[in-house]
Amino acid sequence: MKTCRSALVAASVLAQCTSLAAAHAFFQQSGSGSVDYNSSCVRMPPNNSPVTDVSSPNLACNVGGTKAAAGFCEATAGSKFSVEMHSQLNDRSCTNQAIGGNHFGPVLVYMSKVDDASTADGASASWFKVDEFGYDASSKTWGTDKLNANCGRREFTIPAKIPAGDYLVRAEAIALHSAGQKGGAQFYMSCFQVKVKSTGTGQVPAGVKIPGAYSAADPGVLIDIYGSGFKSYTIPGPAVVDQSFF
Ligand SMILES: *[C@@H]1O[C@H](CO)[C@@H](O)[C@H](O)[C@H]1NC(C)=O
Repeated sequence: MKTCRSALVAASVLAQCTSLAAAHAFFQQSGSGSVDYNSSCVRMPPNNSPVTDVSSPNLACNVGGTKAAAGFCEATAGSKFSVEMHSQLNDRSCTNQAIGGNHFGPVLVYMSKVDDASTADGASASWFKVDEFGYDASSKTWGTDKLNANCGRREFTIPAKIPAGDYLVRAEAIALHSAGQKGGAQFYMSCFQVKVKSTGTGQVPAGVKIPGAYSAADPGVLIDIYGSGFKSYTIPGPAVVDQSFF
């Protein structure tokens, strides 16, 4: 993949640079079952650029991600919730790729139990992972390929036994096309403010801090996906919570 730093790039490369910038993306919408929440509970990032520093507080909920969203979404423990990524603001078209430009990588979803989802800052929260799709070697399919095939949507199940209350839902895609160099992985995340209804009496699963959960040298962060040695992929962060354990 070409970089766009040289002043002496040919016109064809410039065109590619333009499309690369356009390939950036952000999670913007959510839904639950038949309810479309659109962007009403997302802490919308200021633009579609990635975070690249795994130690930055911006890794929690993106740049400006401590600022409250317009409202809350609702979800029921044990039911489906979806997050939705697109390249351009408010463009939910299925004909434009959700995240294009060979931005291949995993898709991950975390949740955090908080006192008030409109004021929780994310970076001091404890996050448990509820969903992930990395790479299926047999079909050579990445999590981002699955997003593109599904109009940007990733649906997951809210753990059935978590207690009722306020949560932040953190949706993330990691683009690995430049991840062969340290600092080259691109992290795209948004946080959603969600009120979970539940009759569950379970514990809040143990979690990790973000930043803190990833290191720049993790095998799933520093990786040459175009190298001849690439065969499988290790998704960064903790394992997805096992519903039977809490
Ligand atoms: C979603 O919200 C955006 C921004 O407010 C708006 O432009 C768009 O029309 C809404 N889409 C739907 C389907 O409600």
